[in-house]
Amino acid sequence: MNWSDTFVQLNKQLHDRASFNCCEPELNSYMQKHASRQMSAGVGHTLVLPSIEANSSGKKDICAFFTVAPSSLRRNDLPLRIAKKLPHYPVPVFLLAQLAVHTECQGRGLGKITLIRALEHLSRVQSVLPAYAVIVDCLNDSAEHFYLRFGFQELIGSTGRTRLFLPMNTVNQLFNKG
Ligand SMILES: CC(C)(COP(=O)(O)OP(=O)(O)OC[C@H]1O[C@@H](n2cnc3c(N)ncnc32)[C@H](O)[C@@H]1OP(=O)(O)O)[C@@H](O)C(=O)NCCC(=O)NCCS
Repeated sequence: MNWSDTFVQLNKQLHDRASFNCCEPELNSYMQKHASRQMSAGVGHTLVLPSIEANSSGKKDICAFFTVAPSSLRRNDLPLRIAKKLPHYPVPVFLLAQLAVHTECQGRGLGKITLIRALEHLSRVQSVLPAYAVIVDCLNDSAEHFYLRFGFQELIGSTGRTRLFLPMNTVNQLFNKG
């Protein structure tokens, strides 16, 4: 499966949600049943990287995708050195709600590309809608290790799933906007 150049907004007429498989049932189910509905409801925005060729259904396979949504944090969830510079009301952040790569494309650098594209997208959004950080709830230890490799740090107030954050200042520096 060969991926195209550009992430585009999920379109169920063009993109084959049913064939998406990243080996994580929760993420497969999200793509197959919820991603499109959540976009229609205005509670999450999903971008996909389509395959170059259409499959037998006439649609393009989804090689990778990510979903972002607005969220907020309590300042006390952040390390003290950061918290003391922030207001006492909820701190706006971006939630990287989902990120996954099709099994046929895993291990070829696409996870890294998808994360970079998600951060680049959020950096553009942040230029018109400020947010302190991007946060991610890790589905499992493997996902946690993946994000820690790219500089994400653990939040103090994590409950259940490990929640990590990366300040938008750091993200913007990656794209020379800092
Ligand atoms: C996690 C996932 C996105 C990684 O995608 P991928 O295309 O296989 O990853 P890449 O090939 O881009 O790897 C990029 C780097 O991360 C490393 N890496 C990949 N998966 C990793 C993991 N689970 N833990 C730690 N490091 C990992 C790679 O070794 C590589 O390192 P390098 O740059 O030093 O060579 C993919 O395996 C996936 O979709 N998994 C199922 C869904 C999931 O768990 N998503 C996280 C949502 S919370």
